[in-house]
Amino acid sequence: MGFHGANAHIGVTGLAVMGSNIARNFARNGYTVALHNRSIAKTDALLAAHGDEGRFVRTETIEEFVAALEKPRRVLIMVQAGEATDAVIEELTAAMEPGDIIIDGGNAHYTDTIRREAAVRARGLNFVGAGISGGEEGALHGPSIMPGGSAESYKSVGSMLESIAAQVDGAPCCTHIGPDGSGHFVKMVHNGIEYADMQLIGEAYHLLRDALDLDAERIAGVFTEWNTGDLESYLVEITAEVLNQVDALTGKPLVDVIVDAAEQKGTGRWTVASALELGIPVTGIAEAVFARALSGSRAQRRAAQGLASGASADKPADAARFTEDIRRALYASKIIAYAQGFDQIAAGSAEFDWNLRPGDLATIWRGGCIIRARFLNRIKEAYEQQPDLPSLILAPYFREAIEHAVDSWRRVVSTAVLLGIPVPAFASSLSYYDALRAERLPAALTQAQRDYFGVHTYERVDREGKFHTRWNGDRREVPG
Ligand code: ATR
Repeated sequence: MGFHGANAHIGVTGLAVMGSNIARNFARNGYTVALHNRSIAKTDALLAAHGDEGRFVRTETIEEFVAALEKPRRVLIMVQAGEATDAVIEELTAAMEPGDIIIDGGNAHYTDTIRREAAVRARGLNFVGAGISGGEEGALHGPSIMPGGSAESYKSVGSMLESIAAQVDGAPCCTHIGPDGSGHFVKMVHNGIEYADMQLIGEAYHLLRDALDLDAERIAGVFTEWNTGDLESYLVEITAEVLNQVDALTGKPLVDVIVDAAEQKGTGRWTVASALELGIPVTGIAEAVFARALSGSRAQRRAAQGLASGASADKPADAARFTEDIRRALYASKIIAYAQGFDQIAAGSAEFDWNLRPGDLATIWRGGCIIRARFLNRIKEAYEQQPDLPSLILAPYFREAIEHAVDSWRRVVSTAVLLGIPVPAFASSLSYYDALRAERLPAALTQAQRDYFGVHTYERVDREGKFHTRWNGDRREVPG
């Protein structure tokens, strides 16, 4: 399509796979889309392959790009996260006018988004940091979109973003999240939850394989079956597909010829680092990040192979029963991972004054994104019934689900320990549950130790105030 004058509804700059697919998604939804990429080759490749899908405006320079847009101008940046994003924002702010809107749809760290939003706002423009989940397919057919920024800028871009997002039960998987970096923060935690979800599925697979000696095809059958119940989700569905895939070269299940060293791009690590700063125990996500790191320590693992396992227990005699135990353990652990992720979101919201609404997040994660699952409807309902839930596990539905699963969960973790099968996420989730529900934790001892060596004082169960025991003197208690 040729040059239309200043009438494009939105511009997309950065036309690698994600950017191209989002641009096509806008065009397929009836919007006129101005296209820009640093090098013209990607723009032309997109137009050659998909130029007939809608109304596109080809531009070569940033000036031409900006001139092609109706006012207030809306530009979606889809370039590499980091310095490239800063460079493009700089160019755009110089060329755009007050009132125009820059949307960063890249995978930015939320602290960068907070900084960029303030800088762009200071120059009279609006900045929307939008987390976009769903990968290439989502970008084209409907992602889950998490836009953060001022309410005013959402008014101008919200309906467009909502119309290209996935739709579930007539509701778009996109809503205004909150101010400045909140959209990218929430996207980060979403990715952390995705790590936990994948690790838990991995542990379930490991148990089915090594405790029950099932082959990949049989395990695929188990996951297919699980996908018809509470665990129904995109990740469980693709797990079954992956396990059914046969390697053309060897005739073996593909999963058995893939190197067992998981990689990561870093969003899981970001989630855990942020949780550490906020003081929120996201043990499921952390175990998932560490499990990937451990799997990738190939030299260490090679050196450690053959270390003693100790006495090993018998494998479960009743395979059907143990399979059901694993299913329940997986479900309970998954609830814990989400409960922890939502705790982190609440803490981030309080720390940055974002006023986030957890129920909205569950709603927009129901479609488009990697963690989409039937389960998210239950989370949505839980927060609808009680917006200030102290923990997701206290919502009646989840409380009941965990209580129903807890015996199985203990059997799975103890069997895994006895058989020497690592289940870091299953086990730490169970410990988290036991710690949270405990009447007395050993933290009283920790407080006494801290008071002993550092005069850090402690509180008493029976009296107000802070106290100190003169450990190195007469051992009498004094007000702290
Ligand atoms: P992918 O991993 O899918 O390739 P990416 O690396 O996140 O995507 O983003 C690549 C995009 O960022 C490309 O459109 C690239 O432009 P070129 O096609 O010209 O390489 C763009 N990009 C990277 N650095 C950039 C910069 N400093 N200024 C402008 N665009 C940049």
